[in-house]
Amino acid sequence: MTIDSVVGGEGARGATASRGALFRAPPARPLVAASILSADFSRLGDECRAVIAAGADAIHVDVMDGHFVPNLSMGPAVCAAVRRAVPGAMIDVHLMVEQPSRFLEPFAKAGADHCTVHREVEEDLPALLAQGHSLGMSMGVAINPDTPATALASIAEPCELMLVMSVHPGYSGQAFIPAVLDKVRSLRARFGASRRIEIDGGVSPANAHSCVEAGVDVVVSASALFGSRDYGATIAALRG
Ligand code: DX5
Ligand code: ZN
Repeated sequence: MTIDSVVGGEGARGATASRGALFRAPPARPLVAASILSADFSRLGDECRAVIAAGADAIHVDVMDGHFVPNLSMGPAVCAAVRRAVPGAMIDVHLMVEQPSRFLEPFAKAGADHCTVHREVEEDLPALLAQGHSLGMSMGVAINPDTPATALASIAEPCELMLVMSVHPGYSGQAFIPAVLDKVRSLRARFGASRRIEIDGGVSPANAHSCVEAGVDVVVSASALFGSRDYGATIAALRG
Protein backbone atom coordinates (compact mmCIF):
# COMPACT_ATOMS: atom_id res chain seq x y z
CA MET A 1 0.00 0.00 0.00
CA THR A 2 1.33 3.46 -0.88
CA ILE A 3 0.68 6.83 0.73
CA ASP A 4 -1.34 7.80 -2.35
CA SER A 5 -3.73 4.92 -1.76
CA VAL A 6 -4.03 5.93 1.89
CA VAL A 7 -4.78 9.61 1.42
CA GLY A 8 -6.72 9.22 -1.83
CA GLY A 9 -7.10 11.71 -4.65
CA GLU A 10 -9.53 13.89 -2.74
CA GLY A 11 -7.25 14.33 0.23
CA ALA A 12 -4.15 15.04 -1.79
CA ARG A 13 -3.42 18.55 -2.97
CA GLY A 14 -0.61 19.67 -5.20
CA ALA A 15 1.90 22.23 -3.99
CA THR A 16 0.70 25.74 -4.77
CA ALA A 17 2.26 29.15 -4.46
CA SER A 18 -0.10 29.89 -1.57
CA ARG A 19 0.73 26.79 0.46
CA GLY A 20 1.98 27.89 3.87
CA ALA A 21 1.44 31.56 2.96
CA LEU A 22 -0.07 32.31 6.37
CA PHE A 23 3.24 31.69 8.16
CA ARG A 24 5.45 33.43 5.60
CA ALA A 25 4.67 37.03 6.65
CA PRO A 26 3.94 38.77 9.96
CA PRO A 27 0.21 38.53 10.69
CA ALA A 28 -1.91 41.61 11.36
CA ARG A 29 -3.11 39.98 14.59
CA PRO A 30 -2.09 36.86 16.55
CA LEU A 31 -3.13 33.66 14.80
CA VAL A 32 -4.97 30.81 16.51
CA ALA A 33 -4.23 27.22 15.51
CA ALA A 34 -6.85 24.73 16.75
CA SER A 35 -5.19 21.49 17.86
CA ILE A 36 -7.56 18.64 17.04
CA LEU A 37 -5.91 16.46 19.69
CA SER A 38 -8.79 17.48 21.98
CA ALA A 39 -11.50 17.40 19.31
CA ASP A 40 -14.28 14.81 19.37
CA PHE A 41 -12.73 12.32 16.94
CA SER A 42 -16.12 10.74 16.28
CA ARG A 43 -17.13 14.05 14.67
CA LEU A 44 -13.75 15.23 13.39
CA GLY A 45 -15.01 16.84 10.19
CA ASP A 46 -17.71 18.77 12.03
CA GLU A 47 -15.22 19.87 14.68
CA CYS A 48 -12.79 21.18 12.05
CA ARG A 49 -15.55 23.05 10.21
CA ALA A 50 -16.82 24.50 13.51
CA VAL A 51 -13.50 25.96 14.67
CA ILE A 52 -12.69 27.37 11.24
CA ALA A 53 -16.18 28.93 11.02
CA ALA A 54 -15.61 30.35 14.51
CA GLY A 55 -12.46 32.14 13.35
CA ALA A 56 -9.53 29.75 13.85
CA ASP A 57 -6.72 30.50 11.41
CA ALA A 58 -5.34 26.96 11.12
CA ILE A 59 -5.93 23.35 12.08
CA HIS A 60 -2.98 22.04 14.12
CA VAL A 61 -2.38 18.30 13.62
CA ASP A 62 -0.29 16.69 16.40
CA VAL A 63 1.57 13.65 15.12
CA MET A 64 3.05 11.31 17.77
CA ASP A 65 4.93 8.08 17.19
CA GLY A 66 5.21 6.52 20.66
CA HIS A 67 9.03 6.95 20.53
CA PHE A 68 9.85 10.66 20.41
CA VAL A 69 6.92 11.15 22.79
CA PRO A 70 5.18 8.54 24.97
CA ASN A 71 1.90 8.59 23.03
CA LEU A 72 0.39 7.73 19.67
CA SER A 73 -1.95 10.05 17.83
CA MET A 74 -2.61 10.48 14.12
CA GLY A 75 -0.98 10.12 10.72
CA PRO A 76 -1.33 11.26 7.10
CA ALA A 77 -4.75 9.64 6.61
CA VAL A 78 -6.19 11.87 9.36
CA CYS A 79 -4.50 14.91 7.79
CA ALA A 80 -6.14 14.00 4.47
CA ALA A 81 -9.51 13.72 6.21
CA VAL A 82 -9.02 17.19 7.69
CA ARG A 83 -8.14 18.50 4.24
CA ARG A 84 -11.38 17.07 2.84
CA ALA A 85 -13.41 18.55 5.73
CA VAL A 86 -11.94 22.07 5.41
CA PRO A 87 -10.53 22.33 1.88
CA GLY A 88 -9.45 25.96 2.16
CA ALA A 89 -8.02 25.91 5.69
CA MET A 90 -4.37 26.11 6.66
CA ILE A 91 -3.12 22.77 8.02
CA ASP A 92 -0.23 23.09 10.48
CA VAL A 93 1.37 19.69 11.17
CA HIS A 94 3.46 19.23 14.33
CA LEU A 95 5.70 16.18 13.91
CA MET A 96 6.62 14.74 17.31
CA VAL A 97 8.32 11.75 15.73
CA GLU A 98 11.76 10.28 15.26
CA GLN A 99 13.03 10.36 11.66
CA PRO A 100 10.60 13.05 10.46
CA SER A 101 12.25 12.87 7.01
CA ARG A 102 10.13 9.75 6.39
CA PHE A 103 6.91 11.66 6.86
CA LEU A 104 7.31 15.07 5.18
CA GLU A 105 6.24 13.84 1.75
CA PRO A 106 3.28 11.79 3.02
CA PHE A 107 1.96 14.81 4.90
CA ALA A 108 2.54 17.13 1.93
CA LYS A 109 0.56 14.69 -0.22
CA ALA A 110 -2.14 14.56 2.45
CA GLY A 111 -2.65 18.32 2.11
CA ALA A 112 -0.41 19.81 4.81
CA ASP A 113 0.56 23.45 4.26
CA HIS A 114 3.18 23.52 6.99
CA CYS A 115 5.26 21.02 8.96
CA THR A 116 7.19 21.63 12.17
CA VAL A 117 9.97 19.21 13.14
CA HIS A 118 11.72 19.04 16.50
CA ARG A 119 15.23 20.37 17.09
CA GLU A 120 15.85 17.36 19.37
CA VAL A 121 15.57 14.72 16.62
CA GLU A 122 18.76 13.04 15.44
CA GLU A 123 18.43 14.09 11.81
CA ASP A 124 20.08 16.81 9.74
CA LEU A 125 17.89 19.87 10.39
CA PRO A 126 18.95 21.93 7.33
CA ALA A 127 18.26 18.91 5.11
CA LEU A 128 14.83 18.39 6.69
CA LEU A 129 13.90 22.04 6.18
CA ALA A 130 15.12 21.96 2.58
CA GLN A 131 13.13 18.78 1.96
CA GLY A 132 9.92 20.34 3.32
CA HIS A 133 10.48 23.54 1.34
CA SER A 134 11.03 21.57 -1.85
CA LEU A 135 7.62 19.98 -1.26
CA GLY A 136 6.12 23.47 -1.21
CA MET A 137 5.39 23.67 2.51
CA SER A 138 6.47 26.29 5.01
CA MET A 139 8.60 24.77 7.77
CA GLY A 140 9.09 25.20 11.48
CA VAL A 141 11.49 23.97 14.16
CA ALA A 142 10.20 23.17 17.66
CA ILE A 143 12.05 23.17 20.97
CA ASN A 144 10.98 21.25 24.06
CA PRO A 145 10.81 23.05 27.43
CA ASP A 146 14.29 21.80 28.37
CA THR A 147 15.94 22.88 25.10
CA PRO A 148 17.48 26.38 25.14
CA ALA A 149 16.48 29.06 22.66
CA THR A 150 20.08 29.15 21.46
CA ALA A 151 19.48 25.75 19.83
CA LEU A 152 17.53 27.64 17.17
CA ALA A 153 20.18 30.28 16.57
CA SER A 154 22.41 28.67 13.98
CA ILE A 155 20.42 26.43 11.67
CA ALA A 156 21.77 26.99 8.17
CA GLU A 157 18.49 26.59 6.23
CA PRO A 158 16.05 29.31 7.36
CA CYS A 159 12.59 28.34 8.52
CA GLU A 160 9.35 30.32 8.65
CA LEU A 161 8.36 29.40 12.21
CA MET A 162 9.84 28.55 15.59
CA LEU A 163 7.65 26.55 17.97
CA VAL A 164 8.30 26.99 21.69
CA MET A 165 6.73 24.08 23.60
CA SER A 166 5.12 25.25 26.83
CA VAL A 167 4.47 21.67 28.04
CA HIS A 168 6.45 18.47 27.64
CA PRO A 169 4.98 17.12 24.39
CA GLY A 170 2.78 14.05 24.34
CA TYR A 171 -0.61 15.01 25.72
CA SER A 172 -3.13 17.81 25.67
CA GLY A 173 -4.53 19.23 28.89
CA GLN A 174 -1.22 19.82 30.73
CA ALA A 175 -0.31 22.90 32.76
CA PHE A 176 1.43 25.81 31.01
CA ILE A 177 5.12 26.32 31.89
CA PRO A 178 5.51 30.13 32.19
CA ALA A 179 9.34 30.06 32.22
CA VAL A 180 9.39 29.32 28.47
CA LEU A 181 8.24 32.89 27.80
CA ASP A 182 11.84 34.03 28.38
CA LYS A 183 12.77 31.95 25.32
CA VAL A 184 10.01 33.62 23.32
CA ARG A 185 11.36 37.04 24.30
CA SER A 186 14.91 36.20 23.33
CA LEU A 187 13.87 34.65 20.00
CA ARG A 188 11.73 37.67 19.14
CA ALA A 189 14.60 39.99 20.02
CA ARG A 190 17.00 37.99 17.85
CA PHE A 191 14.80 37.36 14.81
CA GLY A 192 12.52 40.42 14.86
CA ALA A 193 9.41 40.04 12.69
CA SER A 194 11.17 37.77 10.21
CA ARG A 195 9.71 34.55 11.65
CA ARG A 196 6.54 33.36 13.28
CA ILE A 197 6.84 32.29 16.91
CA GLU A 198 4.28 29.66 17.88
CA ILE A 199 3.53 28.52 21.42
CA ASP A 200 1.98 25.13 22.15
CA GLY A 201 0.79 23.57 25.37
CA GLY A 202 -1.46 24.71 28.18
CA VAL A 203 -2.42 27.95 26.47
CA SER A 204 -5.76 29.37 27.59
CA PRO A 205 -7.57 32.71 27.64
CA ALA A 206 -5.95 33.24 31.08
CA ASN A 207 -2.35 33.19 29.83
CA ALA A 208 -2.67 34.03 26.11
CA HIS A 209 -2.10 37.73 26.75
CA SER A 210 1.29 37.12 28.38
CA CYS A 211 2.28 34.89 25.43
CA VAL A 212 1.40 37.56 22.87
CA GLU A 213 3.08 40.24 24.95
CA ALA A 214 6.27 38.15 24.98
CA GLY A 215 6.27 37.99 21.18
CA VAL A 216 4.14 34.99 20.21
CA ASP A 217 2.21 35.39 16.97
CA VAL A 218 0.73 31.88 16.63
CA VAL A 219 -1.17 30.41 19.59
CA VAL A 220 -2.01 26.68 19.62
CA SER A 221 -4.88 25.43 21.73
CA ALA A 222 -6.46 22.01 22.15
CA SER A 223 -8.24 21.52 25.50
CA ALA A 224 -9.04 25.17 26.26
CA LEU A 225 -10.64 25.57 22.83
CA PHE A 226 -12.38 22.24 22.25
CA GLY A 227 -13.42 22.08 25.90
CA SER A 228 -15.17 25.43 25.70
CA ARG A 229 -18.83 26.02 24.89
CA ASP A 230 -18.33 29.00 22.61
CA TYR A 231 -15.49 28.41 20.14
CA GLY A 232 -15.74 31.96 18.72
CA ALA A 233 -15.39 33.65 22.11
CA THR A 234 -12.51 31.37 23.10
CA ILE A 235 -10.66 31.98 19.83
CA ALA A 236 -11.06 35.75 20.29
CA ALA A 237 -9.71 35.45 23.87
CA LEU A 238 -6.78 33.29 22.72
CA ARG A 239 -5.56 36.14 20.51
CA GLY A 240 -4.53 37.74 23.79
C1 DX5 B 1 1.23 18.50 22.99
C2 DX5 B 1 0.73 18.96 21.64
C3 DX5 B 1 -0.16 20.13 21.75
C4 DX5 B 1 -1.42 19.84 22.51
C5 DX5 B 1 -1.90 21.08 23.17
O1 DX5 B 1 2.17 17.52 22.83
O2 DX5 B 1 1.79 19.33 20.79
O3 DX5 B 1 -0.49 20.69 20.47
O4 DX5 B 1 -2.43 19.32 21.69
O5 DX5 B 1 -2.92 20.75 24.04
P1 DX5 B 1 -3.41 21.78 25.15
O6 DX5 B 1 -3.74 23.05 24.45
O7 DX5 B 1 -4.60 21.09 25.76
O8 DX5 B 1 -2.28 21.90 26.11
ZN1 ZN C 1 1.28 20.55 18.89
